[in-house]
Order: sequence, then structure tokens, then C-alpha cells
Amino acid sequence: MSEYSVPTQFIDLAAQQKLIRPQLEAAILRVLDHGQYIMGPEVKEFEAGLREFTGAAHALTCANGTDALTLVLMAWGIGPGDAVFVPSFTYVATAEAPAQLGATPFFVDVCEDTFNIDPQSFKQAVIDCRKLGLNSAAVIAVDLFGQPADIDSLTAIAHAENVKVLVDGAQSFGARFRGRTVGSMGDATTTSFFPAKPLGCYGDGGAIFTQNPELAETLDSLRLHGKGSEKYDNVRVGLNSRLDTIQAAILIEKLKIFPKEIEQRNNFADLYANYLAQYVRTPFVISGATSTWAQYTLIVEDRDKIKNHLYKSNIPSQIYYPKALSQQDGYSHFPSVSTGLEISQTLPSKVLSLPMHPYLEEKFISNVGSVLGEII
Ligand SMILES: Cc1ncc(COP(=O)(O)O)c(C=O)c1O
Repeated sequence: MSEYSVPTQFIDLAAQQKLIRPQLEAAILRVLDHGQYIMGPEVKEFEAGLREFTGAAHALTCANGTDALTLVLMAWGIGPGDAVFVPSFTYVATAEAPAQLGATPFFVDVCEDTFNIDPQSFKQAVIDCRKLGLNSAAVIAVDLFGQPADIDSLTAIAHAENVKVLVDGAQSFGARFRGRTVGSMGDATTTSFFPAKPLGCYGDGGAIFTQNPELAETLDSLRLHGKGSEKYDNVRVGLNSRLDTIQAAILIEKLKIFPKEIEQRNNFADLYANYLAQYVRTPFVISGATSTWAQYTLIVEDRDKIKNHLYKSNIPSQIYYPKALSQQDGYSHFPSVSTGLEISQTLPSKVLSLPMHPYLEEKFISNVGSVLGEII
């Protein structure tokens, strides 16, 4: 057993807060002073920052990453009779959004090396969907654990079939794919500012990105109760889904240090690869892509034994996700691709995520390597 016994947070939000605490306090106090808690000036300022950061023509904040998905599907008029293709290995929100609207989440398998939706499985699902008499409406390409899905292959298949592409970038905000930043790809992209996300606030928050001005206008209406040109004019059924001004003020400060944090995350991912590669298969990033490492996830045999051994050495780890969505009681009745979901259903017994945040230390990572070496 290693001598190194300093407990580490799985995601250390306190280290970041300590670094920018005065700026955060000043930002929150400014909101308390002007008192515009809903859709205050910081919301617009943050949205401008998001546009600049992503290169998206339109960025609209909302209450959380789940609403962000729902709002886009609503804007596209998706509902009963429509199929929305989703990877079976993802966080529940991806399938929850279409299901909430009465549409059918249609499960597709993922690639074992990237954890992201498999374009060939998606292609087959579109064919299967036709046989079921469902309308193939949209695909949600989840950028799992911080790495963009293969958006070019997915878009080619989707657009040939008139299927819209929604990128679920809840875990990949700040990542890049072949020269483009997450937010500027697909027909629309969503993200989450849940505290543990690469860019997180101190509560719930989310955003939607698109290049399409009409879609942006509809989304702006939908997030504000379906408003029309005036406040008490309601032209459609919408949601109450706004980012609080205080959260926007916090996010403005966090966005300033985000590029540096992405760099640090990538440095620590490289160090993990250096220290761990002799014992385990380290994560793979597809050519032309960068990850923001929302999670640093290994695929290991004997996962529970390894998790337990790490725990005894003060190394926290987590299992994302313990079940495929197609195996969850609330979702097992939805259809899935005829070629099966083998990868999605095997991964839950093998995945193990290690601590990842921008404030790790090399000695912690080298120790993870030594501890793994004791049992592998
Ligand atoms: C892939 C994915 N999609 C959607 C969401 C939903 O985001 P939120 O928790 O902000 O609603 C999450 C958040 O955990 C997520 O990981």
C-alpha cells in the first residue's frame, strides 16, 4: 500500500473557488446591488461571452442542460410519432427530454473506444425506425466524458434522411473537433453548467447554441413562457427556463479562467496516460478532436476489485454509468436498434472514472499509477 495518504476530491470545486473568490464575491455583490435577479445585464453579457468563446452566432442561456435539450426539441416541433435517436450509454437527461415531449427515444449503440454514439448503429436505427412507422426526427449526439462525437459522420447520415442533429455538449463545453469549438456544430448544441461540469456555476444552468436565427428566435420565446413581442403576449406554449442573473455573474468570472483550466485538464490527462498506460488501457481521443475531460474514464476488467483497492488508498473513483439507459426500468420499453446494444450494455460493468479537475497534482497522479500497479 502506498505511503501517499492525502485524500483528494473527485472533483475539487473548492480549489477553483479559492483561486477566484474575490472576483466571485464582487460579481455576486454587483447583482445584489442592481437587483435585477431575473434576466439581468449579466445574462446578456455572459451570452455574448459564450458566442465569442464558441463561435456560435446565437447563444441562449436557460435553467439547466435538460431544459436546453427539451427547448430545442420543442422548437423543432418534436412530439408523439417522432423518434429521437439517442445513445444508450449516456446520462438519463438525453433520453428524458424526448420522452417528456411524448416522442420516442430510440436507443443506438456506442463505440467502445470513444464511448460516443456509433454512426453505423445510428444508420441502422434509421432503417429500423421506418419499419416501425415512426418519423425519424432527430439524433442527439452526446459528447460523453468531454470528447466530441464524430459529428461529420453523424451529420452526413442524418441530413441524408432529413434528421436534425442536436449535439448534447453537457460534458464537452470547450472541446474542439476538426477546427470547430463545441457550440458551433450540429443544427443546435446544448450544454449544462451543473457545478461539476467543465464550466459549472453554483446551482443549475444551461445554454443552447445555434447558427440559425429563426431557431434562436423561437428558443428565446420558448424559454420565456412562449412570449411574443411583448411581455404578456404569449404566442406558443413554452417553459419557464432562465439562467439566474447571479449564476450568469458567477459564470462570467469562471469563463475568464476556463481556457487555462482546459489546458490544465489536458495536462493532467497526459500525465494520467504517462503513469497508467503500463497497467491499463487509457482513454482514446479521435483524430482531430480535443476533450475537456469531464471524466477521465478507464475500461478495466475486475473493475470492482480495482475500485476497492483505490478506495483503500484514499483515491476516490466513480462509475459513470452503472446501467445502460435501455436497461433502466423507466426506459426499457423504448425501441432500440436491431443490431443490438452490446457495447452500451457491457461498458457499465467495466468503466471506472478517476478524479479529474484542473487543480490535481502530478504526485497524486503518479500515486494512482503506483497503486494500480499493486494489483494489475
Ligand atoms: C450528457 C448530459 N446531458 C444532459 C445533462 C443534463 O444537464 P443538467 O443536469 O444541467 O440538467 C447532463 C448532466 O448531467 C449530462 O451529463
